[in-house]
Amino acid sequence: MSQVILPKFNSEDLKNQILKASTLLKEGNLVVIPTETVYGIAADATNSDAVNKIFKLKGRPSNNPLICHVSNLDQMIDCVNLTQRSQYKDLINKLSVFWPGPLTVVVPKDSKISSIVSAGGDTVGVRIPNHPITLQLISDSGLVLAAPSANKSNYISPTLAKHVIDEFKELTPFLIDGGECEKGLESTVLSIENIDNPVILRPGVITASSIEKVLGVPVKYLLAYSDKTLKSPGLLSSHYAPKTPLYLLADTDLYGLAFTNIGLIAFKEGLHPEFDFAAIEVLSDNSNPTKVAKNLYSAMRKLDNLNLDAIIVDSLPEHGIGIAIMDRLRRASKSQ
Ligand code: TXA
Ligand code: MG
Repeated sequence: MSQVILPKFNSEDLKNQILKASTLLKEGNLVVIPTETVYGIAADATNSDAVNKIFKLKGRPSNNPLICHVSNLDQMIDCVNLTQRSQYKDLINKLSVFWPGPLTVVVPKDSKISSIVSAGGDTVGVRIPNHPITLQLISDSGLVLAAPSANKSNYISPTLAKHVIDEFKELTPFLIDGGECEKGLESTVLSIENIDNPVILRPGVITASSIEKVLGVPVKYLLAYSDKTLKSPGLLSSHYAPKTPLYLLADTDLYGLAFTNIGLIAFKEGLHPEFDFAAIEVLSDNSNPTKVAKNLYSAMRKLDNLNLDAIIVDSLPEHGIGIAIMDRLRRASKSQ
């Protein structure tokens, strides 16, 4: 694991916020936490009543499990079922090059994690997020934090504190503003339930090939969702959608659309200068996938607030981070 350096928070205010958040969480309340991927709504993962509050606030179906956030490898290994723990140590140690960072591993669940977190299942997703405030909060509180993205079920994940407040308004739990999320896309979810056959259930900025290099075994994307397996309900095709119909530029005849009020999310400069878009968001100069990932959700929320008839989105080649970006866009779009 790359060394976690916890900053000395000079700001009294921030120290007090972390202390308050820690107290609230221990008392079974929710707290909105910043991470490097997206903001999360956190609760003590061992407290079923607290975890239930997350499902209620988000309107999340109870069959969609939450991922857990820990601050170090020992705490992660403690989330693995006691009887299988020793089998997983090696694999988790190998993967530790990615932590703290945007990789969630799905492992057999230890009994101390509430079964509400795992939606009644035997496995749990765990990661070490790379945000100094949240790492400090987890280590000060000593808690494992169950935290889904801090949006209402099926809406776009938040990458700014403002997104969370805009959506939940006066129902927003105590929130620590940690600035703009550095990555902007939810973590890669890797199932290692079958120890010899790791599979990616949700693509993210950590790719199959980078995990293959570390593990030395093939890592497949398992992106098709099936009711029977219910591998990862987050892979339901209708996920992450804005309210405004969204279409992929690659699949759309711009001039055939029966709309007048169209917004464009472009990944590079100079896309369709001849077309009279009502609003344009350019996410990077030249289709830089890292920048596109960081700015995508903010742009989707912004255009979704403009009462447009349609939002048209650019595409990226489907390799590396492009796989995760196109996966999110397909789920959000009407083009499929
Ligand atoms: O980057 C992230 O992962 C963010 C931040 C807050 O950490 N969290 C996040 O959580 O995106 P959420 O709940 O919005 O998405 C978690 C995804 C869902 O698709 C869920 O179905 C899947 O992970 N998942 C969680 N536990 C699982 C499990 N035990 N087995 C299979 N899939 C699981
Ligand atoms: Mg989510």
